[in-house]
Amino acid sequence: MSVLLSGSPLSGRVAVVSGASSGMGAAAAERLAALGAKVAVLARRKEKLDDVVKNIETAGGTALAYTVDVTDRAAVLEVAQRIAGDLGTVDLVFNNAGVQLISGIEELKVDEWQRQIDLNVTGVMNVIAAFLPQLTASSEQGKPADLINTSSIAATRILEKFSIYSGTKAYISHLTRLMRVELGPKMVRVATIEPGMVDTELPDHVTDADASQLMAGLIHDIDVLQSPDIAETIAFMATVPRHVNLTEITILPTAQAI
Ligand SMILES: NC(=O)c1ccc[n+]([C@@H]2O[C@H](COP(=O)([O-])OP(=O)(O)OC[C@H]3O[C@@H](n4cnc5c(N)ncnc54)[C@H](OP(=O)(O)O)[C@@H]3O)[C@@H](O)[C@H]2O)c1
Repeated sequence: MSVLLSGSPLSGRVAVVSGASSGMGAAAAERLAALGAKVAVLARRKEKLDDVVKNIETAGGTALAYTVDVTDRAAVLEVAQRIAGDLGTVDLVFNNAGVQLISGIEELKVDEWQRQIDLNVTGVMNVIAAFLPQLTASSEQGKPADLINTSSIAATRILEKFSIYSGTKAYISHLTRLMRVELGPKMVRVATIEPGMVDTELPDHVTDADASQLMAGLIHDIDVLQSPDIAETIAFMATVPRHVNLTEITILPTAQAI
């Protein structure tokens, strides 16, 4: 996607991006910073986070890295308090860390089921719990406040062997709809982005050979989305006027059939 936004429409905003060490999160962090936000980048791989911070600083932006496993509730809460002190009250959360481990249900890869539930459900909830008070505080001060959760088209599509991953993403999508009902009247925007195939590290973790082949084939055969496409979309969702909430954004490669 060509860059659509310009200037510093996010100046004065304080953003948190989880899963910011690679893929969509890294691209979003860099884009939000380029548009003027101060950005806290969260993930487990410190060196990768440091690279993202370096890219942002080289481009003239402000960012700080926080190495954290978001499945650890106490650690996320502690990081949230540090960020408020270091950068100010957070008013934009891109709740994006996630893992996709595809396998047939009868294979009973229960450890992989658990990893997905731990990160895509519990990790997502830990981030919400840690940052929601800062989002509501921002909105009470009349500032925009955004919670954008990363779901997937897998939340609604029937894809063979995707049961657990799809279940976790369906959880995120429906959770977001319900949270919006409570938080919208408090002027906190709540949204999901549901991407189709994006060329990132995500498929690298899949241990099922058929599923890996399917995803590699898609990336090879069609012009799939790239992380900057998602980053520009996230930036757009955060820059629309405060009374506008883009709530459920499905974004697919034009040529992706499923
Ligand atoms: N790529 C796609 O086609 C696609 C489509 C739809 C939805 N999504 C969703 O998009 C999101 C981002 O994925 P991506 O495609 O950009 O893949 P990615 O490059 O693999 O990014 C995943 C990110 O999550 C972080 N992460 C993993 N476990 C973590 C943990 N326990 N604590 C903190 N951070 C953790 C990873 O960093 P560390 O390893 O450094 O912790 C990494 O930064 C995921 O929620 C994914 O489900 C992707």
